[in-house]
Amino acid sequence: MLNPSVIKELKKIVGSSHLHIAAEELVVYSYDATQKEALPWAVARPADASEVSRILVLANRERFPVVPRGAGTGMSGGSVPVQGGVVLTFERMNRILEIDEQNLIAVVEPGVVTGDLQNEAEARGLFYPPDPASHRFCTIGGNVAECAGGLRAVKYGVTRDYVLGLEVVLPTGEIIMTGGRTLKNVAGYDLTRLMVGSEGTLGVVTKVILKLLPLPESVRTLVAFFADVDHAAQAASSIIAGRIMPRALEFVDQAALRAVEGYLKEDLSRGAAAMLLVEVDGPETSTLREVALIRELLTRSGAAGVEMAETAADRERLWKARRSISPALYTLKPKKINEDIVVPRSRIPDIVRDIAGIAKKHNLLIVNFGHAGDGNIHTNILIDEADRPRAEEAVKELFEAVLRMGGSITGEHGIGLSKAAYLPMELGPDALSAMKRIKDAFDPNQILNPGKIFQQSLL
Ligand code: MLT
Ligand code: ZN
Repeated sequence: MLNPSVIKELKKIVGSSHLHIAAEELVVYSYDATQKEALPWAVARPADASEVSRILVLANRERFPVVPRGAGTGMSGGSVPVQGGVVLTFERMNRILEIDEQNLIAVVEPGVVTGDLQNEAEARGLFYPPDPASHRFCTIGGNVAECAGGLRAVKYGVTRDYVLGLEVVLPTGEIIMTGGRTLKNVAGYDLTRLMVGSEGTLGVVTKVILKLLPLPESVRTLVAFFADVDHAAQAASSIIAGRIMPRALEFVDQAALRAVEGYLKEDLSRGAAAMLLVEVDGPETSTLREVALIRELLTRSGAAGVEMAETAADRERLWKARRSISPALYTLKPKKINEDIVVPRSRIPDIVRDIAGIAKKHNLLIVNFGHAGDGNIHTNILIDEADRPRAEEAVKELFEAVLRMGGSITGEHGIGLSKAAYLPMELGPDALSAMKRIKDAFDPNQILNPGKIFQQSLL
């Protein structure tokens, strides 16, 4: 709990209309997309880096936790204030400060909604490729904290590949700049990369310099239907092995298809057992050539049907369905454990088969969809509370299988709370302890987003 004098100081820093302590305000900032929740003690809406800095200095003096939060669309509990404290929210720091058309750079505040930046860039013939499924709600600050991936990572990479520089407030209150406006920069340690994906545990990002690309001339979207999941998984691997680089290569299994079709009240797949969504971009001649090659590969891999989205509305309809899978799964069961495992791309058929085996063994409903082009599958275990012990066994076996294949337990959602217990399985004691020493060096009083990434016993 915060004592009244601290609340008074916080009000002085952000202004009393931007400091919230009423229960109905606190509840709004208590959860993310994992359904995990914990109430903060206060919510502050800072206006700039210097206010963030003053809050952190105060937090170190008074020893209360500070938890930065984007739009709460996170999938690992990263912004849930498990130890209470003050949630920092960036509704007032939501400006696109600059789009530099000479240097193909955007400078934004952390509260900018990712889709708004994409639209603003596109209106100028530019392109911001990272495209999380939640692009209409999630924010750049949250994307940087989790190193968000999304639908176009297969060709264009993830958030870290677009962050050139950051303004960051360190947990002890210093305001630093990392990187800058240039494409190259090797001056000292790469603090930009360290901060990206650090899940709000090493610093609070208050400004982001992003690389933009020219907007591709043409885009084509294909959808392929399969009579069984195995052929769909093999088809996805064969596109990559065929040395074609679509900008999106998404896989959706039968249960996910049925869930989203019910949710949107639309028949997308006419009863298919699996679907691939493939999108290519580039100069018109090259996209048409790639479409022809991909059609051939899909048909050879056993696709029962391959269709091209003819209009922008058709494309939008397909992507809307894909982006809606995550919420649609709640229509199947009240709870889901959403993993985002990643394996070398040639192993997708193997991991999909292993997951089916794990589901059978534990008598669980496990649904798979996601970024097959990245080897990144969202494996969702759908449960009633009574299934949880079996589901936890299944998660452990899933991670063991993934690590045996040379994969990772998380491709884009982060460790947060959900995977902290499993991180040692992937890293081993020495790498884990090196990471913990980095955390301690930046945040000696464990002020910033405590309880995340590292299991409680390690704190
Ligand atoms: C997605 O790709 O849809 C997101 O990462 C969300 C999810 O995994 O449910
Ligand atoms: Zn995803």
